[in-house]
Amino acid sequence: MKHSISAILFDENEIQTRISDLASQISKDYESKNLVIICILKGSFVFLADMIRWFTIPVKIDFMAISSYGNRTESSGEVTIKKDIDIDIKGKDVLILDDIVDTGISMTFLFDHLKKYRPNSIRSCALLVKQKPRLREIKIDYKGFEIEDDFVIGYGLDYAEKFRNLPYIGILKEEIYRNE
Ligand code: IMP
Ligand code: MG
Repeated sequence: MKHSISAILFDENEIQTRISDLASQISKDYESKNLVIICILKGSFVFLADMIRWFTIPVKIDFMAISSYGNRTESSGEVTIKKDIDIDIKGKDVLILDDIVDTGISMTFLFDHLKKYRPNSIRSCALLVKQKPRLREIKIDYKGFEIEDDFVIGYGLDYAEKFRNLPYIGILKEEIYRNE
């Protein structure tokens, strides 16, 4: 799989160090709250699994599945819900956990959707945030790493459902998707 990658951005150690820092910040901020993490499938499942094991506070976990990419590397702009949350978040403190923020369309959609369930608060956490003008301006409360506008894979992130199992985050070679 290494031949599909032009560079490794973050290796296993760098990722774990950053996630443990984020988790201790979140544990502090939500100490006297009712934290519910909503993990956005599929890309965030590895991030969630590592993150929650650093928490020092009680946490409830739920999942949402949305889709806006299909098998391409650019957002279609249209978000559809494939799976909604099951647990009641009314009055709870929700933290949306996503793998990466690119255009901001997904995160904006998630905020608007989850607000309808009347939680006490909603914040966002993304492992990766692309540094570029966003189509939707959205505040990311907890950021893992800021990156350039490249298509990245690994550590849960996919291209056409592949590469999620890479233990590091790398840049996908352009020749892999140039002819899409
Ligand atoms: P946004 O709605 O454009 O902000 O994109 C958010 C979603 O698109 C993320 O949750 C990812 O699933 C996917 N995505 C965006 N950029 C990348 C990337 O570079 N690699 C893999 N998935 C990406
Ligand atoms: Mg995603």
